[in-house]
Amino acid sequence: MTQQIDYSEKIPNNVNLAGDRRLQRALENWQPRFADWWLEMGPVGFQDNEIYLRTAVDVGREGWAHFSHVKLPDYRWGIFLSEPEVDRRIGFGELKGQPVWQEVPGEFRTDLRRLIVVQGDTEPASVEQQRFLGKTAPSLYDLRNLFQINVEEGRHLWAMVYLLHAHFGRDGREEADALLQRNSGDPDHPRILGAFNEKTSDWLSFLLFTYFTDRDGKYQLGALKESAFDPLSRTCDFMLKEEAHHMFVGASGIARVIQRTCEVMKDYDTDDVRAYGAIDLPTLQKYINFHFSVSLDLFGSETSTNAANYYSAGLKGRFAEQSYEDDHVLVKDEDAISEIVDGHWLETSRPKITVVNEQLRRSYIEDCAKGMRRWNRILEEHGIDYRLNLPNEAFHRQVGLYRDEFVAPSGEILSESDWEGHESNFLPTDSDRDFVISLMQPVYSPGQMAGWIAPPVSGIHTQPVDYEYVRL
Ligand SMILES: [Fe+2]
Ligand SMILES: [Fe+2]
Repeated sequence: MTQQIDYSEKIPNNVNLAGDRRLQRALENWQPRFADWWLEMGPVGFQDNEIYLRTAVDVGREGWAHFSHVKLPDYRWGIFLSEPEVDRRIGFGELKGQPVWQEVPGEFRTDLRRLIVVQGDTEPASVEQQRFLGKTAPSLYDLRNLFQINVEEGRHLWAMVYLLHAHFGRDGREEADALLQRNSGDPDHPRILGAFNEKTSDWLSFLLFTYFTDRDGKYQLGALKESAFDPLSRTCDFMLKEEAHHMFVGASGIARVIQRTCEVMKDYDTDDVRAYGAIDLPTLQKYINFHFSVSLDLFGSETSTNAANYYSAGLKGRFAEQSYEDDHVLVKDEDAISEIVDGHWLETSRPKITVVNEQLRRSYIEDCAKGMRRWNRILEEHGIDYRLNLPNEAFHRQVGLYRDEFVAPSGEILSESDWEGHESNFLPTDSDRDFVISLMQPVYSPGQMAGWIAPPVSGIHTQPVDYEYVRL
C-alpha cells in the first residue's frame, strides 16, 4: 500500500524517498534548480503574495487536498503516486495479460524515456507561456486559478522528473536537467511540441488553452496511465486528478465570457459588443479555431508507426483502453480514416494499430464537443441564434495527414489562394488580438470582475466569490 504523504521531508512524497538515499540526494540536488527556474521563468510578480492554493495531502479519493494561503515559492511541490493496483496486468499489445513492470525493461528504455520527456516538457512549458498573465487578471478569483494551475504544472514536472531520476540512471538525470533548460518560444532551445511555443498573451487565450490544450494533457495522461510501466501509470493517474480543475477553469471561464457577451447583446440590443467592452462571438469562434487546431497537432500524425510500436509494446494505450470493444492487440483489425486525395475527401481503411493516435484524438474531439454544447446552451437560453462550432479536424494543421492541405473550418477543401483570402475569417487577426489585449485590464478588488467576463457561479472550495483569494 502507498504511504501517507510525508510533509516533514524536504521533498514531500509518498514513494518512501527516505528509503533510497541516493535518489533522495539526486532529487534534492535538482530541487534548487527547479526553484531557480520557477523564479526566473515562472509567474512574473506575486511571488511575495499569499495565495489561496490547494496542496495535495493524500492520494485517496476523498479529501485529497488542503486549501490555505501560501506564497508561491513556498508551495510544497512533491512526488505523489496513486495507490498501486493489486496484481495489475498489461491491458493491451503483444504482452497483454502479463504482470505490469515495476522496473523499465531494457528493450523499451529509450522509448519510455522519450514518452516521459515529451510529457514532462509540456508541464513547465505552459507555466512559461502563462508567466505574464498575472498582470492582467480579470479578478482575484481568476488570478488564484492561474497560480493554482501554474503550481500544479510545476508539480507535474516533478512527477516526470521523479520517474527519470528513479528509473533511467544517468541519462534520466540529464533529461531532468534539460527540462529546465529548454524554454517556451526560445529560438535556440524551444520546447519539444509546437503548441507549447505559442504565446499565451491574454486571458481569452489562457481560458481556451486550459480548455483545449490541458484537455490534450488529459488524453495523453489517460493513455500513459494504461502503460505497462506501473510507476508511470500510477503517476499519471494522480496527475489526472489535478488536471480536472485546469479544464474546469477553461470550460467555466469561456462560459462566463459567453454569458457576459449575451448580457451585453441583450442590454444594448446589438451584435457589436466590442463597443461595450465585451468579446464578440465571431472573435471567440476564431480563437476556438486556433486553439483547437494547434491542440489537435499534439496528438501526432493520424497514422504512426511510433504510436503502433508504443501500443504493441504496452508503453502507451488509448484513453480508457478497456472501454474499447476490440481485442486490444489491434493487428487483425482495420479502421477507416478520412484522407484528402486529389482535392477530395476519401475514407480509407488502415490497420487499426497504425491509427492509435487517431483513436485517441477522436475521444478528445468528442470530449471537446461536449463543452461546446454547454456553451451553445447559454446562447440558446439568451435567445441568440449564433452557434459556436469545433472546426473540421483538417483545418489549420501543421502535423499529420492534412498539413499541406487548405481546409476551411467547415471542412471544405480550398485552394491556397482561397484559404488566404478567407484566413481573416478563420483565425484571429492582429487587430482581433489587439482588441482582446485592449480589454485585459487587471481587476484586483475582491469580488470585482473585468467587463468582458461574468462572475463565476461559486467560489473556490468553501469560499465565496468575493473572498480575498490573493492577498495583495
Ligand atoms: Fe499538467
Ligand atoms: Fe494542466
